[in-house]
Amino acid sequence: MKRYDFPNVFLWGGATAANQIEGGFHEGNKGLNIADVLPGGKERYNILLKPGFNFEIDRSKYYYPNHEAIDFYHRYKEDIALFAEMGFKVFRMSIAWTRIFPKGDELEANEKGLAFYDRVFDELLKYGIEPVVTISHYEMPLNLVKEYGGWRNREVVTFFERYVNVLFHRYKNKVKYWMTFNEINSGFVMPIQGLGFSIQKEEDKFQPTFQAFHHQFVASSIAVKACHDIIPKAKIGCMILYAPVYSYDSNPENIMYALQEESLFNNFCADVQVRGEYPSFIKRYFKENKIDLDMEEGDLQLLKEGTVDYIGFSYYMSRTEKKEKTDEEASQGNIIGGIKNPFLKASDWGWEIDPTGLRISLNQLYERYQVPLFVVENGLGAYDKVEEDGSINDDYRIDYLREHIKAMGEAVEDGVELMGYTSWGCIDLVSASSGEFSKRYGYIYVDKHDDGSGTLERKKKKSFYWYKDVIASNGRNL
Ligand code: BG6
Repeated sequence: MKRYDFPNVFLWGGATAANQIEGGFHEGNKGLNIADVLPGGKERYNILLKPGFNFEIDRSKYYYPNHEAIDFYHRYKEDIALFAEMGFKVFRMSIAWTRIFPKGDELEANEKGLAFYDRVFDELLKYGIEPVVTISHYEMPLNLVKEYGGWRNREVVTFFERYVNVLFHRYKNKVKYWMTFNEINSGFVMPIQGLGFSIQKEEDKFQPTFQAFHHQFVASSIAVKACHDIIPKAKIGCMILYAPVYSYDSNPENIMYALQEESLFNNFCADVQVRGEYPSFIKRYFKENKIDLDMEEGDLQLLKEGTVDYIGFSYYMSRTEKKEKTDEEASQGNIIGGIKNPFLKASDWGWEIDPTGLRISLNQLYERYQVPLFVVENGLGAYDKVEEDGSINDDYRIDYLREHIKAMGEAVEDGVELMGYTSWGCIDLVSASSGEFSKRYGYIYVDKHDDGSGTLERKKKKSFYWYKDVIASNGRNL
């Protein structure tokens, strides 16, 4: 097999988010956040993709998987020891905003929450693992959702500014890698998780969605500038959900449509966060959709000054598009839309598997932005079986990861500047879209099931040993 030369300092590791692993949803004075009110099962998926949701907890009807998650809150030492055993150089995690500001709008930070992350960072650093921290990963304080209307409201920028300043001052000697908003562009398809509000009618989505994005861009620039001032040696990136858009065929109408979808979904947010200005194509889009952004004086200057140092992105799938598609065609395939690609197989959840799409993404992103790239999410959600002898032989996951790592190796040879790779859900966790535990991504199995049962015991899968060797060989042994 061909061997790849990854850069000498390549940041191998795994990725998670606070709401999907921690649990302890009421402990240490933590406040409720969006993930705490999302039920498990099919209903969650419907809530995320269809307009209308009231953000109340109703235990008589639903189970809430994020409340306990996999109990990282109490078991982080055991989990970090396993990451260290695999040789992780970095661990991507997020900070739950509601541990630091339980309601989001307080003036004083919550010391118990701050102390928890001190303990986690210290434990990581003890093993030489650098934390890569997402500041906001689908866990907006519920109070900001209910009382302020989420990111539509400009006041939220002020609360976010307070939050990030506390983080940078507190952790300036512990965290060198930061990211602002997880998959910021997912707000187009899942506004609840990304933007903190529910759209009531599909046709009403344009104005509030772009207004909320504008506030996030401003907040992101404020965070970047503060990070550079307070921790000059740190790097801070944006984080986008990237899924290259292929035209279904060579019909120029379909190619143009694919290009427009690509520009809007994949590039719009990164254009602002990396280049520091709204892209040219958006003016026409705003006009045609009657979007008129409310901006404050100085906003455009701020966007220019607060550009990110790198692009973090998630890559799970590509997307194939056709301008005119039947309902039947449109209903198949990926969570972010598109139609079925006849050349690709899909996961058990219908997500199309396309390693070459990762090489394409890396090339496209690097050519367009010319900043270092960091693959901070990628992986296969799959059902795992524990054999009678306790082993978990997840060869399908190893195959998936191997092909994607090869694609990264090719992209490095293509000349792409790649910082690292943190595969998603290095330890099994709650699925963001479906709330299931059975959609497993980990190298480490967690005995926790969709109905909330399970001992929470951790077990090493076959992929654990495989990834350990990948890291030890700097990607040469795949
Ligand atoms: C990304 C998110 O969209 O994909 C993660 O940043 C999420 O939070 C991951 O878990 C995988 O998606 P899912 O729905 O399988 O959990």
